[in-house]
Amino acid sequence: MPVHSVILAAGQGTRMKSSRPKVLQTLAGQSLLSHVINRQARAVSSDIHVVYGHAGEQVKAAFAQDVDLHWVEQTEQLGTGHAVAQALPDIADDATVLVLYGDVPLVPAATLSALCQRASEGALAILTVNLPDPSGYGRILREQREIRGIVEHKDATAAQLEITEVNTGLLAAPIGPLRRWIAALSSDNAQGEYYLTDCVAAAVADGLAVESVSAAAEADVAGVNNRQQLAALERAFQLQQAEQMMAQGLQLMDPQRFDLRGQLSFGQDCLIDVNAVLEGQVVLGDRVQIGPNCQLKNCQIGADTQIHANSVLEEAQVAEHCTVGPFARLRPGTQLASRAKVGNFVETKKVEVGEGSKINHLSYVGDAKLGRDVNVGAGTITCNYDGVNKHLTEIGDGAFIGSDAALVAPVKIGAGATIGAGSVISRDAPADKLTVARGRQMTIDRWQRPSKKDS
Ligand code: UD1
Ligand code: CA
Repeated sequence: MPVHSVILAAGQGTRMKSSRPKVLQTLAGQSLLSHVINRQARAVSSDIHVVYGHAGEQVKAAFAQDVDLHWVEQTEQLGTGHAVAQALPDIADDATVLVLYGDVPLVPAATLSALCQRASEGALAILTVNLPDPSGYGRILREQREIRGIVEHKDATAAQLEITEVNTGLLAAPIGPLRRWIAALSSDNAQGEYYLTDCVAAAVADGLAVESVSAAAEADVAGVNNRQQLAALERAFQLQQAEQMMAQGLQLMDPQRFDLRGQLSFGQDCLIDVNAVLEGQVVLGDRVQIGPNCQLKNCQIGADTQIHANSVLEEAQVAEHCTVGPFARLRPGTQLASRAKVGNFVETKKVEVGEGSKINHLSYVGDAKLGRDVNVGAGTITCNYDGVNKHLTEIGDGAFIGSDAALVAPVKIGAGATIGAGSVISRDAPADKLTVARGRQMTIDRWQRPSKKDS
């Protein structure tokens, strides 16, 4: 039996106080809706229907790449039952329907499989959770342990409000009876809405089994209504990721101070110190060490390389046995060959740095190719930009660039060349020679300092 997911995503989310629709708010760098689509719906269903309403164009545009999604508009938000009703005409007659919420991002796929399994056996399966503070939620009504219905908080009696087993909103059901129950919903309740939850009493009346799956943890089924809840779920998710990776052998100095917004793969015995922020695709070889407060986005780091504190790397490829930082900034297109060093207050961009070459202090090196064993002195600048175009600086193997050199590109420094400190190099410098381009030092013998006139 195919499973069709219906994701409810029409709500506005006014409590976020944002111009962005709620389902586009991000958790670990991905929108809430993308978590629901990719980690939930795709894991268990063949077809995905997204019920959208508020800021629908914005939501659809964010998923323009996902051409397989079925978008269903709900022009007026008349309740969860009404929302599901919008998607039903598009669903095959032999399907199991799984209802997901666009603002509940962390439901484990295994929990959803359990719901779908029960529904495929003919039951209405609802996902419940026990909450110490159940206020606001629909309460699960049971008689002799059997589920009899769900009552919304606003419709509940004082005795029903005491119930701590609540409805998460997620459920699975065979499409046949679901169509019948939804067609028969009424809005005669405290909120004047078509409640999906009324399907439970309808199933009981039909004599159909109603089963519950109980969520293992509160965070698994927590929804996002405001920024506090979003931040709390971000921490819960980050901790889950951190624990998974530690179980696979990654050493984190403090799993509470680790943020991965994307995918991380790592070799053996890697160590990440506190306050790392890793984004996109990050790949670490064996024994990589990342110091405190580093940010890495879409980077590959080779074995035995050390990234020291407060370094920021984006779209950089760093080979093995390199040293980066502290306080280094590697911008897109930086490629360090093995044993290269980029030290403090150095910015690099679109540069190939050959094996064993060093740029140790206070430099800007962009649009450049450096051979092997080049030494770039403190304060060296590649003047790559003439105000219109970017030009290349090429530095041959073993060249030594004195401190405070300005290399005005396009320019080539030959292999083994030495550039005197403070030089402004605007023509090619030959291999194996000393090139100096600065004012000569003079001493004026007869010069005297002015002295104060007697008054
Ligand atoms: C719903 C459940 C309640 C459960 C709670 C869990 C009903 C009647 N009640 O209540 O039992 O404890 O969720 O959070 O189902 N939505 C639409 N279109 C609509 C209405 C809602 O897309 O017309 C979407 C919302 O954007 C949201 C989700 O459905 O993502 C739930 O809607 P919401 O209004 O938050 O439901 P609750 O009243 O909280
Ligand atoms: Ca809600």
